[in-house]
Amino acid sequence: AMPLIIAIDGPAASGKGTLARRLAAHYDLPHLDTGLTYRAVAHRLLELGLPLENVSAAETAARQLDLGAMDREVLSQHAVGEAASKVAVMPTVRRILVDKQRVFAADGAVLDGRDIGTVVCPDARVKLYVTASPEVRARRRHDEMTAAGRDASYQTILADIEKRDARDMGRADSPLKPAEDAHLLDTSQMDIEAAFSAAKTIIDDNL
Ligand code: C5P
Repeated sequence: AMPLIIAIDGPAASGKGTLARRLAAHYDLPHLDTGLTYRAVAHRLLELGLPLENVSAAETAARQLDLGAMDREVLSQHAVGEAASKVAVMPTVRRILVDKQRVFAADGAVLDGRDIGTVVCPDARVKLYVTASPEVRARRRHDEMTAAGRDASYQTILADIEKRDARDMGRADSPLKPAEDAHLLDTSQMDIEAAFSAAKTIIDDNL
């Protein structure tokens, strides 16, 4: 049988990461957060003190990246996400990372990112496009940060989210958009349980 690949795309702070983790556990599949791969490349450049526009250094970092050695704790920092969306516009860097993501997906997996259904795994069995309004996403991110004891202004977070959406949706190579055959899941009015249950219904219909 064809391996089960579940593709989950959506904008920053849409809840797609949490959803992907829950689905991977439920269907007993490995999970790859592909955003971490772009974050790891950006983090490496920052660590080396190199400008984020240095294409050949970014290519080297992408080639040297070991998917199994990514440190989520370090890479999840807000500034690294910002930097990641800058290296993510480079087509050669994308090609190197996409190859690694496809190897990961080969025997079945849940992948989440921006271009999984459109570019990385266009033949995925099920594609979900997870969204929520920018205000809802900013509110969730703000609550998370406040709960973690980090202070952040809602207005700044909202502005950052809108800037990142514009960069991810506006780039020439692999812009963020729903695949033709993606199921749209707007979680603006849903909590994680409701989103998980809606996603499961869609997936089970396609098994
Ligand atoms: O999802 P996350 O916020 O970790 O992604 C960080 C950045 O990496 C995104 O803003 C996007 O520019 C880039 N990215 C991408 N393609 C993916 C996953 C992430 O371009 N499949």
